[in-house]
Amino acid sequence: MKKIIVTIDGWSSCGKSTLAKQMAKELGYVYVDSGAMYRAITLYFLRNHINWQKESEVEKALQNITLEFRYAENSGQSEIYLNEENVEYVIRDLVIAEKVSEVAAIKQVRKFAVAQQQKMGLNKGIVMDGRDIGTIVFPNAELKIFMTADIAIRVERRYMEMFKKNPNINIDDVKANLEMRDYLDSNREVSPLRKAKDAVIIDNTNLTIEEQLKLALSYAREKQR
Ligand code: DC
Repeated sequence: MKKIIVTIDGWSSCGKSTLAKQMAKELGYVYVDSGAMYRAITLYFLRNHINWQKESEVEKALQNITLEFRYAENSGQSEIYLNEENVEYVIRDLVIAEKVSEVAAIKQVRKFAVAQQQKMGLNKGIVMDGRDIGTIVFPNAELKIFMTADIAIRVERRYMEMFKKNPNINIDDVKANLEMRDYLDSNREVSPLRKAKDAVIIDNTNLTIEEQLKLALSYAREKQR
């Protein structure tokens, strides 16, 4: 069977990473969460008070950032490291979610992240999720999936996920954050969120996790032949 590249793009909180992780496991491929890279860069900028409106500051800051994915035995997943520190969990905070779309819209930040993502795909056998993976990072990927789901469902799913970690979370804040990110991610100048022309759409509003996996795997098996 041929080794392929699978890209999964789509709106915030529509289950991209759930599907990507499961597909990678079933196919025996590497899973890469490209959003984690933008989140880790945002964390670095916030911690170091980088003024990201200034090109020179961004340029200098990026030179001090090393991102790496390392496999974690206990979670069975790869986790992201920022300058040798495991930041897989802190980058999921709402504080980061509130700023990440702004940081991800910066041209130099995208150049920095995209170059690393493209290197990770050199040997294929990879499932990567994000916003511009099928359009910019791997425009020649064999299988491109564009995911979507109703906003109400997405808010509920993200709220339930965040509530487990922080019971004080407010559903209106979660909704406002999702809507803001969707707007910024799809309206920015550099690599806005778009469905690639040759992407298949999976709307999982009424699909179970098992159903969406089965559907996506059927597309992948076809491309592997
Ligand atoms: O997938 P996520 O929610 O963890 O991504 C966090 C943010 O990073 C998202 O709001 C937009 C940005 N992002 C991006 O611009 N390009 C990607 N390939 C992945 C994420």
